[in-house]
Amino acid sequence: MPFEMSSRAVTKVLWVEGSPKAERSLSSACARALLDQLGDGVSITHLDVWADEVVVFGREAALAKFGPLFGEPHTPEQARIWEQVTSRIEQVAAHDVLLISSPMWNWGIPHALKAWIDVVVQPLDSFTVDAEGRHVGVVGVGKRAQLVLTRSSAYDGRAPELEDHQEPYLRYVLSMLGFDVAEPVIVEPTTAWTQEERDQMAADALEHAAQRGRELAANLEANLKENR
Ligand SMILES: Cc1cc2nc3c(=O)[nH]c(=O)nc-3n(C[C@H](O)[C@H](O)[C@H](O)COP(=O)(O)O)c2cc1C
Repeated sequence: MPFEMSSRAVTKVLWVEGSPKAERSLSSACARALLDQLGDGVSITHLDVWADEVVVFGREAALAKFGPLFGEPHTPEQARIWEQVTSRIEQVAAHDVLLISSPMWNWGIPHALKAWIDVVVQPLDSFTVDAEGRHVGVVGVGKRAQLVLTRSSAYDGRAPELEDHQEPYLRYVLSMLGFDVAEPVIVEPTTAWTQEERDQMAADALEHAAQRGRELAANLEANLKENR
């Protein structure tokens, strides 16, 4: 993959890959098609949420999240976990653009992607609350987020407001963190019965993603000019 840090880089993109299917994943292929349009002046960091290094937010992390608010200082183990949590938030903060690619899994997102969200969404470090109790983004302020989402056949139309816990959820979390969330790439239905239909669906999806990549590239270029 041509995703290496470039010394000429001006814009940093963090790609969070939600599908575990790697080279067999359509959402990942669409993410690559989009990233391919961003040109040389961009550096890309790839985060596979299925890799072992992603912190699992278990008992000690859950206790550590609220302990200090209730006057319970972190234990040494909690402090160690919290360092990892903080470094994941810093990774997001160190990038200008966040790209999340994900399939729909049981109307929501794969648990490994949810686990990463549980790590990076933390009061004070990634969002805060104003005097009226409203959430105010911190980690995403001034940054663009782009979603690339696949689903085989999400809806049968009977309860549209209940059937999609993928796009609205991700959009909500990202905007709560302060990101400017771009129009997502949504590919559905991805289940096609003949090889010909599958090839056509994939080709259309890749072109759709590439088009969104060109739009993102133009947006980044305009921002750069504005800030020169
Ligand atoms: C565990 C699992 C659960 C799934 N649940 C849904 C679902 O609720 N709705 C849907 O439309 N597709 C569902 N799918 C299908 C995937 O979203 C679809 O195949 C998608 O195109 C896969 O994208 P990928 O190739 O990037 O992994 C599910 C697939 C798996 C493996």
